[in-house]
Amino acid sequence: MSQRRSAVTDATGDNARKVFIKTYGCQMNVYDSQRMGDALAGDGYVPTQRIEDADLVLLNTCHIREKAAEKIYSELGRIREMKAERATQGRTLTVGVTGCVAQAEGAEIIERAPVVDLVVGPQTYHRLPQALARVHSGERVVETEYAVEDKFDHLPKQAARQIRARGVTAFLTVQEGCDKFCTFCVVPYTRGAEVSRPRAAILEEARALAEAGVREVTLLGQNVNAWADGAGGLGSLLRELAEIPGLARLRYTTSHPRDMDDDLIAAHRDLRALMPYLHLPVQSGSDRILKAMNRRHTGADYLRLLDRIRAARPDIALSGDFIVGFPGESDADFEATLDLVRQVRYATAYSFKYSARPGTPGATMDGHLPEDVKTERLERLQTLLREHQVAFQESFVGREEDVLVEKAGRHPGQMIGRSPFLLPVVVPASAGAIGEIVRVRIESSLPNSLMAEGADHADRLVSAEPLRKIA
Ligand code: 5AD
Ligand code: SF4
Repeated sequence: MSQRRSAVTDATGDNARKVFIKTYGCQMNVYDSQRMGDALAGDGYVPTQRIEDADLVLLNTCHIREKAAEKIYSELGRIREMKAERATQGRTLTVGVTGCVAQAEGAEIIERAPVVDLVVGPQTYHRLPQALARVHSGERVVETEYAVEDKFDHLPKQAARQIRARGVTAFLTVQEGCDKFCTFCVVPYTRGAEVSRPRAAILEEARALAEAGVREVTLLGQNVNAWADGAGGLGSLLRELAEIPGLARLRYTTSHPRDMDDDLIAAHRDLRALMPYLHLPVQSGSDRILKAMNRRHTGADYLRLLDRIRAARPDIALSGDFIVGFPGESDADFEATLDLVRQVRYATAYSFKYSARPGTPGATMDGHLPEDVKTERLERLQTLLREHQVAFQESFVGREEDVLVEKAGRHPGQMIGRSPFLLPVVVPASAGAIGEIVRVRIESSLPNSLMAEGADHADRLVSAEPLRKIA
């Protein structure tokens, strides 16, 4: 899990209160951080990228693995020093913890880290301004209780200006929570039960995004493909989204194999806007471990499902998540994971050492493995995954790709975009091309991106062929 600074742009106004939001973990936290920034803007806060300038610091946290959760306490240690130094200058600093650690640990955070003034869980972000007002009147506030029907109230409307400032791709939360209860995972406890956001609200937000110039939308949910309403599932929602003028590309993440229904698979066949890329975690290739993980499918079920998906969309790129060293995982179980990986050949994948999470069934299972075994297995798995990833990337050299131009590249004359398969591509273009989809020929494959013909030393080219704009 990476950590990112909030993507909100700086505004001026030296007398305005400033908020610094640091985001840990998944894309839903990135989305939530943006929305918290939007909600606070209504309250007179301007975003800052510099923690030193902030009057309010929010850490939007991740609880998925122990390391992710522990990072927060070391960050809070640094913030405590900053707050103490400010106190000597008569200045104040308000400190809030939001996200999944906030939900999981609640008041314990304030006990363990007295520097914290405010703890707000992911389902109560709409109450952030009121909670802050209480902090300013001297209270220390913990807001983690919520009613299920409030679940999507924490998503304030965004102004077109804010959307545009964020660029031509956007996240859109459509589903939250998880009912699957994989035995390693804290998400069902931190994000609660599966809830689908109403279709009308999703379509309204998607139209607003498109009108503000967004070309690509990624639908988010902990189990996004469990999204459903009385009228249909995620496939039916994608079909409606694909009709919105201006929205050229649709993606969704993260999916559970059990929720890939026929209509969603058919959407991959039917919708040009639905990109040929699917993140579909399997976690392990061993049936024994899959059972202990409560995944409720076997390795063979997963491979059969991929056959059906590839029949609908033969060029689809697959991505996955893996856990090595789950309690009781034998050498043979681990080999089964490597076998499955060899059969699937993922375009990209994320892999982790098992981390025991308090309160999950896995934590109290027998057969926890030593760290060195987990480390060795992770290295072997990652070596194999990397081989496939490199081969996948190199397979594009010499081919034409459609690239959605997103932002400036490192050198003048270079812009960076993404291919349909989510690979970053450096293209020869200027800022005027941002938001356009251009067709380029791939010349070479670099460690983390592809280089389009003419992009290398684009600034020195005398007459570049104009790029072919596709949309
Ligand atoms: N230990 C290690 N990895 C985990 N994940 C979830 N819980 C744990 C855990 N306890 C991984 C899974 C999941 C991804 C988001 O994080 O692979 O798909
Ligand atoms: Fe966690 Fe499993 Fe739910 Fe994914 S499906 S969020 S891994 S419990």
